[in-house]
Amino acid sequence: MSFVEWKEEYSLGDKLIDSQHKSLFAILNDLAEAGPDDKEDASFKCLGQMEEYARVHFRDEERLMRDNGYPGLVKHIEEHKEFLRQVEDYKISIFSSYVPYQDIVEYLNNWLVEHVLGSDQKYMDYISKR
Ligand SMILES: [Fe+2]
Repeated sequence: MSFVEWKEEYSLGDKLIDSQHKSLFAILNDLAEAGPDDKEDASFKCLGQMEEYARVHFRDEERLMRDNGYPGLVKHIEEHKEFLRQVEDYKISIFSSYVPYQDIVEYLNNWLVEHVLGSDQKYMDYISKR
């Protein structure tokens, strides 16, 4: 069973972006399933994958926005950077127990959902109105 999953309502109508978002949710689900008992191994690996894949995805998304002259690009890049900073932090904190595991999964899930439905959707609205 998936703890965290991409839903049809997250679709932005762009094949590449949607499939990359699906992959991010799949990695997050792996992280949720890895659980707090496997900190040094599976969880750390998942966070690494999340970071790596998010970099690729953000780069593609930012390129698309730049190519289309999106005025919200700078702010959007800041949000992406914030996410990567947070994932980096979690990679460190996962070895200590001061951040509860559930908080990590919840933060990442909330960030992804809010970002896709908020900031990414704003870009799609911009594109569709041109
Ligand atoms: Fe984005």
